Amino acid sequence: MIKIVKDTVPQLRVKSTEVPLPLSKEDKAFIDEMLTYLKLTQDEKFREKHPNVREGVGLAAPQAGRNVQMLVISYETGDEKHPLVEYQLVNPKIVVNSIKKCYLSNGEGCLSVDSEHPGRVYRSFKIVVEAYEAKLGEQVRITARGFDAIVLQHEIDHLKGILFYDHIDPKDPFKEIPGSVEI
Ligand code: CO
Repeated sequence: MIKIVKDTVPQLRVKSTEVPLPLSKEDKAFIDEMLTYLKLTQDEKFREKHPNVREGVGLAAPQAGRNVQMLVISYETGDEKHPLVEYQLVNPKIVVNSIKKCYLSNGEGCLSVDSEHPGRVYRSFKIVVEAYEAKLGEQVRITARGFDAIVLQHEIDHLKGILFYDHIDPKDPFKEIPGSVEI
């Protein structure tokens, strides 16, 4: 089973390399294992058995021990039309960033970060991502806003060795950015 690499390990700060396409059997098996693990973290019974495991909505390959450009995302939206957001992305690139910012009211969390880092993590409110989607087996272009955009930016940051708390202003962790949206 996947063992999560914590932020105390320098490997988490390494820039990930691009993944050759078409996806090898080995890489497909790995991104499948990542999604299986992420969904397990959302299972209460699994977490009872493994008290060190926290619930997550996204996981990037460096957190699972490989510095390659792959990430998975999975969460329920509560929206009847689109009940589930789920991706297996390879070589994702943000091609459009809105000037408008947003942040999570309760701050961000990360499976690799055990310590508390209070403060606002400002992200683009809207982004467009291009990537290879491993489940669909095709190149995709994703337009995401609000929470969806935040999760994508958090996971893509992992592929650059960036962690959410790098975005918090140490001098003024809760500084206001006029016009930003609280999510
Ligand atoms: Co994270």
